[in-house]
Amino acid sequence: MLRRSVTTDEAIREAAQIIRQGGLAAFPTETVYGLGADAFNPHAVARIYQAKGRPSDNPLILHVCDGEALAELAAAVPEYARKLIGAFWPGPLTLVVNKHPRLPAWVGGHPEGSACTVAVRAPSHPVARALIAYAECPIAAPSANKAGRPSPTSAWHVVEDFDENEIDLLLDGGEVSGGLESTVIDVTGQNPVLLRPGAVTAEMVYTVTGLQPEAVGNDSSAPRSPGMKYRHYAPRAPMTIVSGEPDEAAARIAEAVSRQPGPVGILATAQTAAFYRTRFGEQLSFDPQGGTALTEDRRIAVLIMGDRNDPQTVAHGLYACLRRFDALGVQAIYAESVAEDGLGQAIMNRMMKAAGGNRI
Ligand code: TXA
Ligand code: MG
Repeated sequence: MLRRSVTTDEAIREAAQIIRQGGLAAFPTETVYGLGADAFNPHAVARIYQAKGRPSDNPLILHVCDGEALAELAAAVPEYARKLIGAFWPGPLTLVVNKHPRLPAWVGGHPEGSACTVAVRAPSHPVARALIAYAECPIAAPSANKAGRPSPTSAWHVVEDFDENEIDLLLDGGEVSGGLESTVIDVTGQNPVLLRPGAVTAEMVYTVTGLQPEAVGNDSSAPRSPGMKYRHYAPRAPMTIVSGEPDEAAARIAEAVSRQPGPVGILATAQTAAFYRTRFGEQLSFDPQGGTALTEDRRIAVLIMGDRNDPQTVAHGLYACLRRFDALGVQAIYAESVAEDGLGQAIMNRMMKAAGGNRI
């Protein structure tokens, strides 16, 4: 099992030392756990790609402390981007900028590639901030999961995905607060372009800049954010999202589940949990914490992603539920949908990816 340590100052210093020496350290951020390396060390960055099984054309986010550190990496930071930094850094917002001409062409991506842009963010999690400060270099860090798995929202998820020879040290900061990856905004043009929705919403960007971010369709043939073209955040079982009002969706899910022969998962919300319990009774392994195994008699697992009245709880719970379904070995997953406003936009974006776009 990989080496992990609670987040004492000593452990954070050791992780920083590992990164300075070209090793890999996993660490908590306010969004999800990251797998970090010295952004300027090509061997270390190549190891990230290898450990994750990440396609080499999918670039990484560089983690820095503040806007000053960004200025060293960016050729230019437009006025509206400065406003975004003032409002949301440190926090769950990544900015894609044109690279400073001084930077090696590969930095920000795989060492064998080259690109003229780089993605940068300043995380707010105190452990991440201390790690960056001690390392004294930008830290390249994707989410600390194997490519195609849901992002890790607790240290345990990182342990699940990696061997001890793949990561040198994992800083265990418990569960993250956010649960979905940062908002990614391309600020290389006159107007912001939303590449990946997150906790910093399009409305929030508009409020701060007066500019309506252009949205990039996920199915566009030439994605602006390379990562968006891969089937991401995916559980092993095929997932179907069922649209409609909660009561109606729950009834349709119950129908579909009763026709399903094998073990099956239902991704529910606090509002519909009682309905499934009544409907399936003995067949149901009802356990919000997901502790119970499925058996022949109890072939249906209902997991509660969160409370519809508090979308942050849904954002926080989603990936842990998807991982739990994997562990339970369900053959199919049926998921309710949530309202697509505010944070709901990011939640539905990730759910649609987990479902490979399968929504009925
Ligand atoms: O919340 C987060 O952003 C987490 C934590 C660890 O900071 N990190 C994260 O990294 O989600 P990753 O590698 O899983 O996702 C980075 C996304 C990908 O979709 C990638 O394609 C995009 O950012 N990206 C990176 N560099 C880019 C660039 N130069 N231009 C456009 N998109 C870029
Ligand atoms: Mg990722």
